[in-house]
Amino acid sequence: MSTPTSIENISTILVIGAGTMGRQIAMTAALAGYATTIQDISEDGLAAARAELEAWAAGRVAKGKLNGETAAAALGALAYSTDLDSSAANADFVIEAATERLDIKTQIFERLGKLAPAHAILATNSSTLGSSKVAEATGRAAQVCNMHFFNPALVMKCVEVVRHESTSDATVETTMELARRLGKEPVLINREIPGFIANRLMGAVQREALFLADSGIASIEDIDTTARTALGHPMGPFALMDLVGLDVIDFIAQATHAETGAAEDAPNPRIASMVSEGKLGRKSGAGFYDYR
Ligand code: 3HC
Repeated sequence: MSTPTSIENISTILVIGAGTMGRQIAMTAALAGYATTIQDISEDGLAAARAELEAWAAGRVAKGKLNGETAAAALGALAYSTDLDSSAANADFVIEAATERLDIKTQIFERLGKLAPAHAILATNSSTLGSSKVAEATGRAAQVCNMHFFNPALVMKCVEVVRHESTSDATVETTMELARRLGKEPVLINREIPGFIANRLMGAVQREALFLADSGIASIEDIDTTARTALGHPMGPFALMDLVGLDVIDFIAQATHAETGAAEDAPNPRIASMVSEGKLGRKSGAGFYDYR
């Protein structure tokens, strides 16, 4: 068995998946000075990520929130690739943020186990699939964990580091320290549980919000207003579901329910039917609110 890299030896990060999470995680790493590759199977996905990150950086510079040289250095530290094999070959740390499907993730981790340097830590940003599900496929289970970021990843401070039974202390320590060096405040979860901490807390609020709305007790707008003005939440639960994506919310519920079987974890029928109508929240232009 090999030894995971120490934090001092991490200079190159690979982020797999150019979607909402992957692109912002990659930019966070680039801003912290890491040479970062974003790998995705879709050229269009990579082009969209590049365009969004360039526009984001230009906006920050225009607002005076980011120094022009820092922005240019971060954009210059980013590479874009459709080739997983060559991207993995020189990565010291991998953060997988691909589609939330176990078959896809297992294939990716199997390849990473063969292609990434022996010292590399292989982390998944999955919010629902504990890394134990893909660890064996890598042949280096001790170097595998969840490193779960929050949307929008350039802003939210929390990173949940979740260890599975075989994750080594050294892997946990390096992953926690990397999160700190990315400007985050990591928390450690010692045992896999569906939803970890944040999504369990968020799910409880969402369930109650849906109950109140579905029972006709209050409007979506008033429930959201109450969460903001009475509880100090930055956004109400419905606005937050639209931000996260209703497909993601539905998937989290399905995956959690499959594991726990608990009635309170069951997917909400209203959200399921909105997803089947293509109402996914902000990213599709409509969800609980209209963004068009
Ligand atoms: N990408 C990058 N930066 C963004 C952004 C985005 N999508 N949205 C907002 N920001 C930045 C803005 O540029 C601004 O930065 P600045 O203050 O330095 O200029 C800052 O965030 C604040 O933005 P706004 O003033 O426009 O609006 P708000 O003050 O309402 O903040 C928010 C927006 C940060 C999204 C805030 O409403 C919030 O914290 N909402 C809750 C988000 C949350 O709970 N996320 C977790 C979701 S769960 C999850 O991701 C887990 C997964 O597994 C499902």
